[in-house]
Amino acid sequence: MCGIVGYIGNEEAAPVLIKGLTKLEYRGYDSAGVAILGKNGLLIRKSKGMLKNLEEKIGSEIQSGALASTMGIGHTRWATHGEPSDINSHPHTDVAGKIAVVHNGIIENYAKLKAWLEAHGVKFRSQTDTEVIAHLIDFHFNGDLLQAVIEALKRLEGSYALGIICESDPDRIIAVRKESPLVIGAGKGENLIASDVPAILEHTRDVYYLGDREIAVLYRDHVDFFNEEGQSIRKETSHVTWDAGAAEKGGFEHFMLKEIHEQPKALTDTLRARIKNEGKKAINLEEIGFDASWAEANRVVITACGTAWHAGVIGKYAFEHFARIPVDVDIASEYRYRNPIYNPKDIFIIISQSGETADTLAAMRMAKKSGARIIAITNVVGSTLAREADLVMYTWAGPEIAVASTKAFTTQLMCLYLIAIQFGVLRGTLNDAELGAAVEALENIPAEAEKILSDKENIQRFAYLQTNKTKVFYMGRLFDYAVSLESALKLKEISYTHSEAFAAGELKHGPIALVDESTLLVAICTQDNLFDKMDSNIKEVKARGASTLVITWDDVSYFDKTADEVFRIPRTMASLSPMLAVIPAQLYAYYVSILKGLDPDKPRNLAKSVTVE
Ligand code: F6R
Repeated sequence: MCGIVGYIGNEEAAPVLIKGLTKLEYRGYDSAGVAILGKNGLLIRKSKGMLKNLEEKIGSEIQSGALASTMGIGHTRWATHGEPSDINSHPHTDVAGKIAVVHNGIIENYAKLKAWLEAHGVKFRSQTDTEVIAHLIDFHFNGDLLQAVIEALKRLEGSYALGIICESDPDRIIAVRKESPLVIGAGKGENLIASDVPAILEHTRDVYYLGDREIAVLYRDHVDFFNEEGQSIRKETSHVTWDAGAAEKGGFEHFMLKEIHEQPKALTDTLRARIKNEGKKAINLEEIGFDASWAEANRVVITACGTAWHAGVIGKYAFEHFARIPVDVDIASEYRYRNPIYNPKDIFIIISQSGETADTLAAMRMAKKSGARIIAITNVVGSTLAREADLVMYTWAGPEIAVASTKAFTTQLMCLYLIAIQFGVLRGTLNDAELGAAVEALENIPAEAEKILSDKENIQRFAYLQTNKTKVFYMGRLFDYAVSLESALKLKEISYTHSEAFAAGELKHGPIALVDESTLLVAICTQDNLFDKMDSNIKEVKARGASTLVITWDDVSYFDKTADEVFRIPRTMASLSPMLAVIPAQLYAYYVSILKGLDPDKPRNLAKSVTVE
């Protein structure tokens, strides 16, 4: 996730762009940049770090008039390809520096395009996927920027929202989108582009929402629209009535709810570039350097903290299921003080959203010292974990602002499943048909997640009915037990409700002593072969006065008579259920927090990144 802006009008462009970018910094903040087109030609200014670094860098130039111009584009970055650095910051240009591009999204075929452009003599400066776009446009440029963009788009695969300007086709900005958000602000004598509405609200509340594969050409006094073939299309403006604060959260009341809703997109981004659909479905982890040598391991050790550790617990089940390899999962703060037994053929998977958690880094360094090879799963490009690991698989979830992790968790799961399935392929535990079925099921997960979100009012209603419950327990078996752990953590973090998770088989070994009328028991039931066991457990807690909610598949009626409420999720493979089953639990935690009048984005006593012990 990154933020893009563009301005063409009568005001000084650089300050307008910087102001717009401040409203988009929540979308990425590892570097920022602007391209200004004025009497001094196309000028690019960019800087690693927060937006204020860029502001400081160009402040005197704005004062002196060196950046005088009334049009330009800008970008605030959340790195995906290439670590945060001045060079990798946007805007990117063609070799001559005459065409500038800002981009939000992921170009999936960039490696192929880069090789092709290099074969045509193009010298690349950055490690980004975006740079190929500038060179491709230049490759097709024949005096008409719009035509060159249309030609370049034909070669791009992936997602993008683009702002493009060109020194030899001045007085217009071209904007395009496919799957990444982009709005066009229609002002008086000025027009703007932005990834999100807040960046333009100071100028106008009249916006065009660009559709997939539509192109906008912005002039000072009007905007033209085209389809990807270059045929003219008509679009109507919408009037934005949100207040600026709500707009920053995409119309959602909180970042947490916004991020819960971003999961289908984040899952798609994390998955799509890593699968192949050429004839037969397969997984492609070549880009991250995952080759057959990794699958020679005797054991996989996973370490992490908090939510990331819960992802690791699910990873254990996934590796056992798909790749038949022994897995140990350890809480990083425990691992670092143990006296663990190393084996030279172990590989470690270290999971961390931030890539900066102190205990996780300490565990990773211990493992490294033992000679083990390390795979990092992290959301932050260039983080300490990413830099020190042997191999990195990024969760392309975009910045997670809410303290309670949601989209980082489900995308961590997606990464673990991809590695586990590929492990299975390399170890010969999965045949082609099983691989094809697993990949197809993964491809369906984002749409299934979307379906759950469209039923969120049901969870909201349930949260409302259960506000008098002072104890909430989650239970399940196998994958559902691991989802229970994460569900209980979400609820306690943001609603301060006493909640616990246990393996349903453990009920009789202790937890049942706590069950009474003040208890809500959420039973996660996606493992069909264990339904009868779960049913008995649910009956046991009901008999002691607890209310019960079952989360199960949409084609299952098994629990209709036993449970007080049943929330249904679309069916997928039982082994992939955590990516879906956790979503109602995230929503439940969110709604309970709201009903208690709390701020779910900033729970007390918690920090987003725990960089000290
Ligand atoms: C819970 C949560 C924390 C983090 C944990 C590890 O919602 O966010 O439990 O998962 O602090 O953080 P990372 O993944 O950054 O290492």
